[in-house]
Amino acid sequence: MKLRFVWAGVLAGALGACGSEGGQHADVEPIPLDLAQKGYEQKCALCHGNDGKLGRTGAPDLTTSKMNPAERERIIRYGKGLMPPQKDVLNDAEIAGIAAYLDTFLAAE
Ligand code: HEC
Repeated sequence: MKLRFVWAGVLAGALGACGSEGGQHADVEPIPLDLAQKGYEQKCALCHGNDGKLGRTGAPDLTTSKMNPAERERIIRYGKGLMPPQKDVLNDAEIAGIAAYLDTFLAAE
């Protein structure tokens, strides 16, 4: 699927020369970007908005987030403050895919 390659490029770009993923990183194949986008729109856009900038309930602007993919997976899995945990709602592949999808907000900057 074409979108997969777009995602791979965006992710590789975000990781840059560093190459280190750091932190805990689920050892699964992430769901494809188009499915991750649907998941994001269902589970996350309520607070973060379709463009990541909505900021409802004090949610941070995701277009300026400095979190790396492993850190995003952690906050998606366990939640923080007003952000609800998704570990019983989304599986590891979905969490990893949505964490990667957030790169599209950074790239759009
Ligand atoms: C009920 C509202 C709500 C929903 C739904 C929600 N979030 Fe959040 N999100 C927040 C809030 C509030 C914070 C700030 C948490 C804190 O630091 O106390 C946050 C923080 C974050 C951060 C950290 C940003 C940073 O740089 O500090 C990321 C990444 C994130 N959310 C992604 C997601 C994703 C992906 C989803 C969907 C799976 C999601 N959020 C669903 C409210 C929400």
